Amino acid sequence: MRIFLFVTLLILYSVMESQSEGLQVFGPEAPLVAVAGEDLVLPCFIKPNTSAVDMRVEWFRLDVEESLVHLYKDQKEKNEKQAQPYKGRTSLFKEELQKGNASLKLSALRVSDEGEYKCLIEDKSWYDDIIVHVTVEAQGSHPVIMMESYDNSGGINLVCESRGWKPEPEVLWLDREGATLPAEDTQTHRDTEGFSVKRHITVYDYSDSNRFYCRLQQKHHMMEAEVIINSKCQ
Ligand SMILES: *[C@@H]1O[C@H](CO)[C@@H](O)[C@H](O)[C@H]1NC(C)=O
Ligand SMILES: *[C@@H]1O[C@H](CO)[C@@H](O)[C@H](O)[C@H]1NC(C)=O
Repeated sequence: MRIFLFVTLLILYSVMESQSEGLQVFGPEAPLVAVAGEDLVLPCFIKPNTSAVDMRVEWFRLDVEESLVHLYKDQKEKNEKQAQPYKGRTSLFKEELQKGNASLKLSALRVSDEGEYKCLIEDKSWYDDIIVHVTVEAQGSHPVIMMESYDNSGGINLVCESRGWKPEPEVLWLDREGATLPAEDTQTHRDTEGFSVKRHITVYDYSDSNRFYCRLQQKHHMMEAEVIINSKCQ
């Protein structure tokens, strides 16, 4: 009974405390999806409308070790301890802070910026936070086709490579009519720049079809490279 009362009081107390200021922090309604290279605004604001100029605003990553993205306190930017990848790429909107808007501008988005960000706003007697999910998409490098070797049966081993894709692209080998050709499985490697892909194929130099295409495709992007096998050179 006493424990129950204690818990009730505790809940009552925390409800009263959060209501004492009546402030709450809000973020975006949906996860953010943006394209590498662009600038992105991560929304975070207090309601009702109060100035955040004298508050502490901290933006940090939840999913990496070196996590400080941006810190504002004592009416100044305090970015000495900011994580290296964010140096020179973050800012708050000074005018907007007066309206309780602590949204963060992140410039020249990178694939490695993808993740979860917490926006924490703190006053003397109050704090609240929200989490923003950021997904970064990237169109990779133009595919490159290389000839690796010939084999005894007249086959020519080709490989198509490209890097920096996000999400992972589909890699297809096509003949001159645009029909897909059987090829080896795509080799995929994930690094901080996105997905690198590589796909091998063995082609034969039929006299009427010596052009081959390597196509990389994502939902909204497509890139192609062409190779012409000239039998006279063999
Ligand atoms: C609320 O915001 C408006 C503009 O968005 C501003 O003119 C007004 O002064 C603000 N009120 C308070 C109490 O900060
Ligand atoms: C906060 O400021 C940013 C940048 O000016 C703006 O895009 C955004 O709409 C503002 N949010 C609110 C709730 O006013």
